[in-house]
Amino acid sequence: MALYDDPAFLAGYRELRRTGLGLNDELEIPAMEALLPSAAGLRVADLGCGEGGLAVRLAAAGASVVAVDASASMLSRAVQHPQIRYLQADLAQLDLPESSLDLVVSSLALHYVDDFTGLVGRVARWLVPGGQFVFSVEHPVVTAPVEAADRVVDDYADEGLRQRTWFVDGVIKYHRTIGSTVEALVAAGFVLEALREPQPSPGQVERSPHLAVHRRRPPLLLISVRRG
Ligand SMILES: C[S@@+](CC[C@H](N)C(=O)[O-])C[C@H]1O[C@@H](n2cnc3c(N)ncnc32)[C@H](O)[C@@H]1O
Repeated sequence: MALYDDPAFLAGYRELRRTGLGLNDELEIPAMEALLPSAAGLRVADLGCGEGGLAVRLAAAGASVVAVDASASMLSRAVQHPQIRYLQADLAQLDLPESSLDLVVSSLALHYVDDFTGLVGRVARWLVPGGQFVFSVEHPVVTAPVEAADRVVDDYADEGLRQRTWFVDGVIKYHRTIGSTVEALVAAGFVLEALREPQPSPGQVERSPHLAVHRRRPPLLLISVRRG
């Protein structure tokens, strides 16, 4: 069963999103928006689309979107839009037609993918020359420790599988250093355009104290690359 189909996990995750106490609304969504091009007329894929928030924003701006997720539960709640085609598929196997996309996006999903290099190679094939790939992942300083310890960078060089407790035990994520992440992209023929580590401003922390931890270490890594 996919993690996001586990009722115990899903209850916790949905409550987090409903209350806005995660980092999505305050940090990830604005940082992603800042890197996205004007979407009108673009052919887009959203990898790990969840309930479709980003796909809907892109479709509303005039893109046609194929929005992909492994979880039937997430897709069952996804917001429908005439310019979005939802597809249930595992990113580990997903394949799309060559040179069929102008933009590939992914919000907070690719740290669940083991073979990042393989996925990046496929994304490069799906994009037209000059096409853009923009994604966010949990920051490698957060995914690094083998024994999860929220504020300590540890085991940074040991890439690979990590098990965490996040609403349920045994949540599997994959740790990759920033260096390997960028090298995989460059090896696939991408040119780096932006690398961002958004953190809350002091004013944001004052208004939303739960964000304080995210000034102690970066919670997110966002990268934008373009197919050469
Ligand atoms: C943290 S949620 C983010 C959802 C959405 N992108 C957003 O920002 O609201 C991660 C999503 O990635 C999906 N996901 C994780 N691993 C996946 C995989 N191997 N293939 C497809 N989807 C996956 C999950 O089902 C989940 O919907």
